[in-house]
Formats: sequence, structure tokens, C-alpha cells
Amino acid sequence: MSSHAGILVVDDEERIRSYCREILELQGYTVEEAGNGMEALKKMTETPFALVLSDIMMPDLGGLELATRIRKSYPDTFVILITGHATIDTAKKAIQEGAFDFITKPFKMTELNQSVERALEVRKRYISDLPSHELMDLYDLTTKIDVGPRKQQSFLESLALALMKTFRGDAARIYLVEAGTENLLVRSCGAGSESMLSDYDWQTYANAAQMDVGDILVGGDSALEAPVSSRMISLMAGSIPSMEGSLGVCLVLRSEVPNGFTRRDLKLMGLFAAQAGNQLLNYRMASDLKHNSEELEKINLLTTDFSSSLDTPHVLSSIGKGLMSMVPFDLFGVYLSGEGLMPLSYILARSDLPEEVLNVDLRRQLEGYRDARTIDMFLDSMYRDSFACLREADWEVSADIKILDLGGFGSFRGMLILAAWSRKTRSLETSSFLPILVRHAAAALSNAYHYETSERNYIQAIAALARAVDAKDPYTSNHSRNVAAYVMAMSKLMGLTSRESNWLHNAALLHDIGKIGIPESILNKKGALSDKEFDVIKQHPDMGYRILKPVTAFSNFVESVRYHHERYDGNGYPHGLTRERIPFHACVLTLADSFDAMTSDRIYRPSPGLDYAVGEIEKHSGSQFDPDLVRLFIRVLGKQSPKEIISDYIAGEGQHFPVS
Ligand SMILES: [Fe+2]
Repeated sequence: MSSHAGILVVDDEERIRSYCREILELQGYTVEEAGNGMEALKKMTETPFALVLSDIMMPDLGGLELATRIRKSYPDTFVILITGHATIDTAKKAIQEGAFDFITKPFKMTELNQSVERALEVRKRYISDLPSHELMDLYDLTTKIDVGPRKQQSFLESLALALMKTFRGDAARIYLVEAGTENLLVRSCGAGSESMLSDYDWQTYANAAQMDVGDILVGGDSALEAPVSSRMISLMAGSIPSMEGSLGVCLVLRSEVPNGFTRRDLKLMGLFAAQAGNQLLNYRMASDLKHNSEELEKINLLTTDFSSSLDTPHVLSSIGKGLMSMVPFDLFGVYLSGEGLMPLSYILARSDLPEEVLNVDLRRQLEGYRDARTIDMFLDSMYRDSFACLREADWEVSADIKILDLGGFGSFRGMLILAAWSRKTRSLETSSFLPILVRHAAAALSNAYHYETSERNYIQAIAALARAVDAKDPYTSNHSRNVAAYVMAMSKLMGLTSRESNWLHNAALLHDIGKIGIPESILNKKGALSDKEFDVIKQHPDMGYRILKPVTAFSNFVESVRYHHERYDGNGYPHGLTRERIPFHACVLTLADSFDAMTSDRIYRPSPGLDYAVGEIEKHSGSQFDPDLVRLFIRVLGKQSPKEIISDYIAGEGQHFPVS
């Protein structure tokens, strides 16, 4: 920076340029020429000059404007302006625009030489005030564009240290504008003997530079005096500018008054602050980019999780828990509804949320957004989860509520509700990616719900078929329904998950579907069956399996249908499987199936009665039936009679499956 040695002569008159050049070259200077202001600026970007000698009156870019630009971008370059119309005003203007001196045409050789010599001498003194190698440190630091391995904080710490060393200060501090505020300055880092000035004074100067006064110079060249509370000091404070406004303030302090900072120091610090501003923006952009890519990755994982299941409760729970990692809510809810469809609602709330707050306060608030009926249906949600949370919450105040409209999904419309009572997370200002996540969530939910609806439709269709099979024999018209009732009673006592119970339930309804292919003459034969006829009957489990197998929705229970006539001892049909090789659900079906057969009238015999049936299943425990299941079923029958079991079933699950 301090090695500028050349002189650039700028004039649109070739004659004047040559005249100046000859005079200056005679003195041993290196001289270059430019025909106008723009050409001069271009040359400045290629070669640094110690001095620019420029005419004021030039087309396009005049000398005054050129001087302003040079002062801004090349503070080490001095400018002397040449004018043909010397007035006090021109002179004043020239100096105001940053020119070191001006000379009037026509000028003598000595006049030009003296002015140039004086400018270069003063310049030399200024430049020597700042040791070039230290200036280079600062320059390197502020122009480095590698934002990878270096963190912003370590960059700022190096900047504070470099500012202090470069300007031979005793301490330096950097304040940055707090994120999310307009002008609140917070100390980011410091270097040297910061205690020479109180925190209050540091902050006062920083605020003044940021908001009121602009760059500040205390002591040295300046008329501003140091605060009485501190020792005699000189101080510079300059804003860190960027395209997006001021990012903060840097300050340097020196105790050796009267050798205080000069205006030139302040100007130079301003230049480096501008470069530091660019650098900080680079860090922030890199950090935003990283944050965004991490958030996108998170969203990708979450949406994959949403879409990986068609089970509505699972999808709802994964949406709620997924959102929790992005938005600090206390309550999350989804409400979907559509004409002719059962509304679907889900609430995930922190476990310490008082019922009254939910049912009274929140209800009142929500009714401001939606009609009371919708809010009732939402709050009486069919699915509910809770989570533990240690965040402070103020249940006395109204919740901060955000309602997101999910738009339409086929016949569905939906809304998503977020509420927060936590003081520290009162604002539900959320990630810009939240709408994407919500759209995925709603789509996954809609898919799951439609899938379940279509699965239910399937079940109803097949149950109707099962009913048709049962109807082939007027004595067994409720057989499938009864078997379903017994397996559901056993499933409750076994504590099966709702998913497993569903499979078992469907298997019970459809276990004899294969009989649809058995001639009625065999099914309804009054006398004993011949071996051949019995062989035909024995085909019904495999036939049922073949009917149900192509339907993916039935894949979880087709095996139970296939093996519901196997026996524990291996003497069953159609495959003769034994013990553990028989699917567990098939064993449950076998027991319920046989029990219903023994407690119902048949065409060839009346029902032998409950006591007989219980005696038989006990007798065949371990041979025909799984002994553990027999014990369990006896317990079921100890609690309820078969009639009660069946009527409970009809009042509950059975109402969706009208098989009788
Ligand atoms: Fe059967």
C-alpha cells in the first residue's frame, strides 16, 4: 500500500498532459497519462499511484468527482486538481472533495514541481505513520474470503487484535447488532487493555457511532474530549457497514495523548470496517446456507417418516413429534374434515397443560378463529398424545396461537393449530420451511385416512361376502360375527395392540370366506359326510387364502385364515402344522371357531350347550387347542357369558361391520 510511487496525469487535452509529463519526468518521477476520469479510474484499479494530477473540467467524469472517488477507494493516493477558472469557490470545493491542492492554468514549471513535491512529502509522512506490514495484516484479514474453516467469532477476534496492532492502540472492541433487533449493540469481542475505559463509555461511543454521529474521533486531531471518568485517551469508533445496513461498530483506543489518532487513521479504519462488513456478510451467508441445508435435511427425514406409514395414529404422532423439533409449541393439533367424511382430529399437548386451560381458555380463544362446532370437534379429538416439557409456562395468560390452513386434499380440508404459553417461546415465529413440512404432513395424513377408509370399505365388502357364505346355512348365519366377538374379547385380555387386534378381527370375519367355493349340497348335508365330501370341505381354508391373498390390505392376516383348522397336535387340516408352526392368530381363531360351533344349533344337531362346549375345549387343550389360549378363554368366559360377549361386540366394533 505504501509503495505508490507513480504519478497519473489526467487531462482531456493531450498538449497539457505531455507538458506535465515532461516536467515531472525531468524530476525523476514515473508518469502515466489518462485522457479522462473514467480512464483514470480504470488505471487506478490496475496500478496504485501516489499522486493524481487532474484537470477539473473534463467530459463524463470531472476532476472533482474523480477526487471524491479516489478519496473513497484509494485513501493513500493524493490528488492535485488543475483548473482554468480559479475562484475561491473552486478552491474550496476542490479541497472539500479531498484534493490535497489545486493549481491554476496557465502554471509555471516551478509551481507544478512545488505542489507535487509538497504533496508527496506530506503523503510520505502520513504513510509512515502506519507501518506497512501491519497494514497488510489488516488488509489480508479483511479481504480473505475463505469462510469455511474459520468461524465468524474467531474472525472478529483476529480483527480486533489487528485493528489494535495496526493503529498502535492499547485496546480495541467490536460490537455487533443483536440479531432480530434494529440497533441493539452487544459486545462481540475485545483486545488489549479494555479496562482503560468503562463498559458504559465503550457502549456510549459505540452507540453514538452507530446511531447519532457516524464515525467518531476523540482526542488527537479531534475537538472531542475524552470522558472525564477515564484517563486521557484518544479513541476511534466506526460503523461496520454493509449493503443491509450497519452490522456493528469497531473501536480502537490509545492512551498516549497527545499522540492521538488522526483523521486519516479514522478514514483508514473506515475502509477496513467496510471490508470487514463484507466479510461478515460472507460468514452470515455461509452460515444461513448451512442452516438452511440442515433444515432441509431435517425436513426430508421427517417427511420420509410421515410418508412411511399408512396408519393414521402413527402418521399423526410422527407429524406432532416431528414439528416439535422445529417449533417450540405447548400444544399442536390437526383437524381435517370433509363433506360425507368423518372428521379427523389429533392433539399433542404437554402433559402438564391443565384441562381447564384446554377446555375453557383455549376454546374461547379458538372460537375467535373458527366456528364453535369445529372447535368442539377439534378439542374432543379422537387421537390424543402428550409429552413432558420443562419449559416455563404461564397458564394464566392467553396462548400465542398460530393456525395454518392446510388447504384441500381431495375431499378433505384441514387446519393445523399451534399454541404456546411458554414465556420464552411466546412467539411461534417459525422456520420458513414450516409450510413445506405442513403440506407434506397433511398429504401423508390424507393418504393414511383415505387408505383406512378404502380398507374399511374392503372389509365391509368382504364381510358382506362372508355374510353371504354364512347365509348359505341358516343355522350358521351369525357364525363369522360370533367368532369375531370371541377373538376380540380374548384380544382385550391378552393386551394386543390395536393394530394386531384389527388383523385378528378381520381374520375372524373372513375366516370361512373359502366356503363360498364349496357346493351347498355338501355344506348343508344333513347326514354324515363321505371322505370325499370331507376332502372338499377341507379345501376351504386354502381357498379363502387364495381369495384374500391378492389384496395387499389383507396381507397381515391371510395366514390366519389359511391355518384356522390346524390342530396343536398336528392332526388338523389342510397342512397338518404343529404347535409353534401354527400362526398364533390362527390358534386364537381355531378356539373361537370351535367354541361357536359347539354353542350354536346345526342342521344335523341342536347345540350341545355351554357346559359341554367348555368341557370339550378343556378336554382337547394341548391336543386340538393351544393350552395357554384355553386357560385365557376360560377366564374370558368366567367374566362374561357368550351372549354378553356378542352383544358388547355388536355395540362396539361390530357396528361398523354389519355382518348380521
Ligand atoms: Fe372354517
